Formats: sequence, C-alpha cells, structure tokens
Amino acid sequence: MRIVIVGFGTVGQNLARIIQSKEKQLLKEFGFHPRVVAVADRSGVMIDTKGLDLERALTVKRMKGSVAQDPELGRPGVDAKEVIEGVEAEVVIELTPTNVTDGEPGLSHIKTALRSQRHVITTNKAPLAIAMPSLMEMASYNKVLLRFSGTVGGGTPILDLAKKCFNGNKIASLRGILNGTTNHVLTKMTDSNASMDEALKEAQASGYAEADPSYDIDGVDTACKLVILANCVMGRESSIRDVKIEGIRKVSFEKLEKARGKNSQVKLIGSIGDEIRVRPEPIPRNHPLCVRGTLNAVSFKTELMGEVTVVGKGAGGVETASAVLRDIVDVRRTLAK
Ligand code: HSE
Repeated sequence: MRIVIVGFGTVGQNLARIIQSKEKQLLKEFGFHPRVVAVADRSGVMIDTKGLDLERALTVKRMKGSVAQDPELGRPGVDAKEVIEGVEAEVVIELTPTNVTDGEPGLSHIKTALRSQRHVITTNKAPLAIAMPSLMEMASYNKVLLRFSGTVGGGTPILDLAKKCFNGNKIASLRGILNGTTNHVLTKMTDSNASMDEALKEAQASGYAEADPSYDIDGVDTACKLVILANCVMGRESSIRDVKIEGIRKVSFEKLEKARGKNSQVKLIGSIGDEIRVRPEPIPRNHPLCVRGTLNAVSFKTELMGEVTVVGKGAGGVETASAVLRDIVDVRRTLAK
C-alpha cells in the first residue's frame, strides 16, 4: 500500500513512528506493508517512490523544520496537490490543521485526492464539517473510500462503535463531551479555581488545544464533531451551519459554584436530538458523562439497547495517529474483500 502523507505535525510524525514500529505486525496480522512514498508539509515535499526512510523524514523535519529541506529527496515550494495528483499511491492521508472558515487547505487536498481516485484518510474536521455530504458523494462516484475515525474522539473509537456495533438498531439521539480542551479547562476552573486563560494555556502546552484555541473555547470544535456524527452515524445530512453553538467563554465561577451545590459539574455538551447544539450544561456527578480532565464521553440513546456510553482520550498525537492506523487497516481489509 503506497501512502502519501499531507501534513507532518504532531499527528503525522506520530503516525510515521507507529508505521515504522508496526511494520512486522502489520505484515503478519494483516498481510500488507504500508510504504510512505511522499510526505508534504507547509514548505514543500519529500518524495521517494520506492518508499521513504521514515526515520530520515522525521530527522529532517526535527532538524530543519521541513521535510522539503532533505538535500536529495526534498522539493521546497512544491504544493501538496501536485504530489497528491502526480505521485502514484493508493492512499492519501490528510492531516493538516482544522480551518472552519473555508476548510482549506484540507478541503482542496481531499477533493484532489478523491478526483485522482486515491482512498482518503483524514483527521481534519473542517472539510467534513463544511462539506461532508458532497465529499461522501465524491468518494462514492470515484469508487474510493473516505475514512475519518480520528476526527471524533481522537483514538477512542466513537464513530466505529456507533457505525459498526449498532447494526439493525437505531440511534435516536446522542450527547456528550467531544472536546478535551474545554473539559480540562472546566475541570481546572471547578477543582482549583484556575482562570480560563491559565487552564487553556495548560491544554495548549499539552498539545490538546486546536491551533486556534477559540475553536475549542467557543464550541466550534465540538460542533464540527457533531456534524460528522450526524452525517456518519445518524444519516442526517448537515453542515456546521445547522448547529446552534454556545461555547464556554461566558461560564462564570458563580455558574460552576451553583452546579457544584447541586452535586453537578458544568460540561460543554454537544447533542443531536431534534436539533444539533453545543452548550455548557450541568451534568450530575454520578452520570457516566461526567468525566474529568481531557477525557471525552458520548452517550448514545439507542432504540433497542437503551443508553450506551463510550469514554476515552479524545486528543493527543499518538492517540489520534492510532485512529489513522485503524483506518489504514480498514481500507486494506475493505479492498481485500
Ligand atoms: N482540540 C481538540 C480537543 C483536539 O481538545 O478535543 C481533538 O480533536
């Protein structure tokens, strides 16, 4: 399986390390050998059609800031789209940061890849939040797969659980904590009276926050994930424009204290019911959704099984890269059928 990686930040670099370390396991368990033939970052690309030495790509990135600086294989200034179209590969892995203004550059990368009949795996939420129905249609028209497990819940298989484990059942509604940063901020504000700014800085230092942290605080990140869930597991064609969004910016210590008095904690809750919405809500401390720190938790209300809740880490480079690995194996299995 020849792979092009577009975006070589935390998730991309962790993915490269995981692919390296799991080479033998993938061959033994799943009978294939992933070969990364190109890596693109903001400044250019690094290409080896025989398969890149990932250690070398990681070293060049660390030492020189861009893979394009490799003296032999680097091509500074070359746009990722040229590589997506021009380098022979089966799979394009799109890992650039979320930009909800217009979804770029991820949206163009994904469209170019689908049009070039490459299977696409992405962790980029914005292109899906903006144009998920049309991207799904484009994938199906071009007879390729579009996978995005890492967009919701990081490594925690929230989408996979909902998509694959409720066959024949129906999800009537769902609600949950889908953003680790705001959960950390609200937990810190509640437990140690930290200010929103202080707690956010910690989440940024740990690498959980978005490149633009207002996406976390203002509920935009949660809204993107709700749109992906709505389209993918509830069959509701929607975009971020359909979500009512209220973030945590106005959550005061008084509000947190009031919730505490009722044995509850304020959480940023995303829900899909009659409407799709994000807002801070008090959650009773003994409710399964009342998880702490950077954890995510989603409760699905199902037709035949009552409420099912999944809890796990919702962010982090290794965790999110593990979701990409899951998608790589899933693409391979689907193609082998
Ligand atoms: N900023 C996101 C979060 C990252 O805090 O949950 C994972 O999508």
